[in-house]
Amino acid sequence: MRFDILTLFPDMIKGLLNDSILKRAIEKGLLEVNLIDFREYSTNKHHTVDDYAYSGGAGMLISVEPIHLAMKEIKGIDNAKKLLMSPGGKTLTQEKVQELAKNDHIVIVCGHYEGIDARILNYVDEEVSIGDYVLMGGEVPAMAIIEAVSRLVPCVISNDSPKDESFSENLLEYPQYTHPYEYDGYKVPDILLSGHHANIEKWKRYQSLKKTYLVRPDLLKKAHLTLKDHQMLWEIKNEEN
Ligand code: ADE
Repeated sequence: MRFDILTLFPDMIKGLLNDSILKRAIEKGLLEVNLIDFREYSTNKHHTVDDYAYSGGAGMLISVEPIHLAMKEIKGIDNAKKLLMSPGGKTLTQEKVQELAKNDHIVIVCGHYEGIDARILNYVDEEVSIGDYVLMGGEVPAMAIIEAVSRLVPCVISNDSPKDESFSENLLEYPQYTHPYEYDGYKVPDILLSGHHANIEKWKRYQSLKKTYLVRPDLLKKAHLTLKDHQMLWEIKNEEN
């Protein structure tokens, strides 16, 4: 998987790439991440990349030209998925991450300040938001995409982790425990020490359904629930009363 990230703040992203898992994946050649400072493509003598908005109002907008010039230099860009990080985009979900992970090459444009000249939309495939809140720029959102997509690239992490975790089935993950058995009076649920595999699996499913019901009931509508799951949900709802 190759990422090309267009940003005015490449140093913000460098730290992420020094993280143990991503660093190892880059060293193994599973990932390639290029950071492109599009200020270097500014054609004016002061190397500025922003200007006042035609509509007036406070703040500066990033011009389209330096970004477009930087994009034109990226090898193979025509076959890459091109994203613009923006609070105005569709919200990122695990489903979307899985779809993005099917690409071999992703180009990400990070805005900053008050935004980018809207003509940038002629050069990207889609706008992506990481949630309904406004950050100072697209760097943190771009890092979220790099992390979420990279962990689905084969061999980047141990291969059976992704299927068992939150959102892969539109259910939140069941709670997990490690040593010690008792900490500050809090014990590991005894069922997990019982060695009874079938009961443990049932417990995990129940906990997963319960957490989703309590924290993200909206996800249950999208989850594929069996008759047994519905019975468990009925028990969970009755447990409340
Ligand atoms: N830039 C600023 N806020 C953002 C958000 N929530 N998602 C993506 N890009 C952004």
